[in-house]
Amino acid sequence: MFNTMTITKASGALIGSLLALLLLFWAGSSLFYVGPPGGHGEGEEIAQAYTIPVEETGGGEAEVEEEIDFGALMASADAAKGEKVFGKCKACHKLDGSDGIGPHLNGVVDRAVAGVGGFGYSDPMVAHAAEAPTWTADALQAFLANPKGVVAGTKMSFGGLPKPEDRANLIAYLQSQP
Ligand code: HEC
Repeated sequence: MFNTMTITKASGALIGSLLALLLLFWAGSSLFYVGPPGGHGEGEEIAQAYTIPVEETGGGEAEVEEEIDFGALMASADAAKGEKVFGKCKACHKLDGSDGIGPHLNGVVDRAVAGVGGFGYSDPMVAHAAEAPTWTADALQAFLANPKGVVAGTKMSFGGLPKPEDRANLIAYLQSQP
């Protein structure tokens, strides 16, 4: 009797501590899964993964709508305001015909895509030139809305200009810079 009780208690304690260990392991591993490094970078990719399918599925119609809206916006665009917007591009792009981190942008409206000789474009940008050879105002506004959505893998590190008015004003300004 006494022996059985001891064994019962002992095994109870053993099972109890095994359970506690299991719980600790479980808690530990779930903690590890929660916090792998690089979570922030992945967040950005997820945000992009959202915009790309939207463009693909809604492509045709959305573009037509944008074109109509954008034509109207261009008609009332203000180049002086666009000069201010260009402040966001200045770190990488010049307007005097010389190239910096990015190619010069004077004369870019209606210029060939990846068309600046001697500038080292990324492969995705060169490939984009085969699909869409000219920086028309509309091609520019689509690219500037979401550079990485339009040219996946471009080395232009710029998030985009979400406001259509900013894009129209900027393109009007670029048109005034031959
Ligand atoms: C952080 C630097 C950086 C900023 C900021 C930036 N760009 Fe760029 N841009 C680049 C680089 C680099 C390329 C070349 C991209 C490639 O080859 O993939 C490029 C390419 C371009 C092209 C294609 C040019 C061509 O000859 O085909 C256009 C148009 C352009 N940028 C416009 C803009 C505008 C407008 C802004 C501001 C709203 C801007 N970029 C902001 C770095 C930048």
